[in-house]
Amino acid sequence: MSTCEYKPGLEGVPVTQSSISYVDGKQGILEYRGIRIEDLAEKSSFLETAYLLIWGELPGVAELEAFEHEVRYNRRVKFRIRDMMKCFPESGHPMDALQASAAALGLFYSRRALEDPAYIRAAAVRLLAKIPTMVAAFQSIRKGNDPVGPQDDLDYTTNFLYMLNERVPDELAAHVLDVCLTLHAEHTINASTFSAMVTASTLTDPYAVVASAVGTLAGPLHGGANEEVIQTIEEIGSVENVRPYLEDCFERKSKIMGFGHRVYKVKDPRATILQKLAEQLFEKFGRDEYYDIALEMERVIEERLGSRGIFANVDFYSGLVYRKLGIPVDLFTPVFAIARVAGWLAHWKEQLEANRIFRPTQIYTGPHDFPYTPIEQRRTNASEYS
Ligand code: SDX
Repeated sequence: MSTCEYKPGLEGVPVTQSSISYVDGKQGILEYRGIRIEDLAEKSSFLETAYLLIWGELPGVAELEAFEHEVRYNRRVKFRIRDMMKCFPESGHPMDALQASAAALGLFYSRRALEDPAYIRAAAVRLLAKIPTMVAAFQSIRKGNDPVGPQDDLDYTTNFLYMLNERVPDELAAHVLDVCLTLHAEHTINASTFSAMVTASTLTDPYAVVASAVGTLAGPLHGGANEEVIQTIEEIGSVENVRPYLEDCFERKSKIMGFGHRVYKVKDPRATILQKLAEQLFEKFGRDEYYDIALEMERVIEERLGSRGIFANVDFYSGLVYRKLGIPVDLFTPVFAIARVAGWLAHWKEQLEANRIFRPTQIYTGPHDFPYTPIEQRRTNASEYS
């Protein structure tokens, strides 16, 4: 019997030492490398933030220019990857397409220089650059079109929206999405980042690291919640129906997507910023009826569950923003993934700097020395196993 206390979901158990980000869940504070998220959302860009996360400090003018240049000219993906994506079923979820495509990058690029800073940089640039292209490519392909290639004179986020819709987006739309990417870039040891770290600790290639993290992010308890929030709002349908719908959820003790967090016991600071971004979009492009339902949901949930520390999390308002930007609902989580690649890569690099393979223990609860029963003496009623 182990002497360590078992904590389901590893709640409160430190699994690493990290200087990448910090969350104070009681005060609603999030910092990347010590800088408040509010400051980064207002003053930085996604790519500058990615640099900060991965290399530990804000880049100088020349460093940022060089980094943006490298990312810009690495956006294209091999035709074999595009052709592979053409074989995916159109009805497949874009997160599955992204996981498969991210893993496929490993077929093209070597894994043998994990101790070489130039290799780390090239892999980080490649992943940051190509993941948005692959998300947009699957969207085009499933509509029956050829993927739209990147346009070199467009910045990172503008280019992503361009590849998605085949037209250069409105400036405010691109700016708002860029801030969304900054807000989603990193969040300490969440499930997908832990997945990335465990995979990284085996010294496998960075494409496998990102692919495993994408698979983990996809679940509805994690990044997949943003998609389900919109489905919930659609099911509710009207402001008047919010309270009865939620009362039924409380009664059935079902989880309301976009609310609650392992660490935050107040409103997620990212949700506050996202809400303001949504309002900016509504002001320019027209108010969204879904927003009124969302506001009422937040009000009722705060009233009923606020005393238990359940408030809106990052996934609650992000969907409203993405929807207003015209992004299809099942691309919400891939957009989250585009951003979180920065955090996964930062943790990959940090993990390699002081690596030890993750190999925790368990508390065994099964039998010992159990007899092997010959097949003819085993239970035969098939229904017992169904
Ligand atoms: C993200 O970890 C990160 O940092 C993640 C993330 C990131 O940036 O990487 O912030 C991104 O994943 C945001 C979370 C998205 N998921 C959802 O919105 C799904 C809905 N929320 C939950 O299922 C839940 O709050 C979690 C998964 C986010 C947190 O799970 P915990 O910490 O394991 O909490 P729990 O499920 O054990 O809940 C504790 C209590 C329970 O009640 P009791 O059994 O104690 O009576 O709170 C209740 C839960 O029923 N509760 C909720 C609820 N969330 C928790 N009740 C209703 N609705 C909810 N959403």
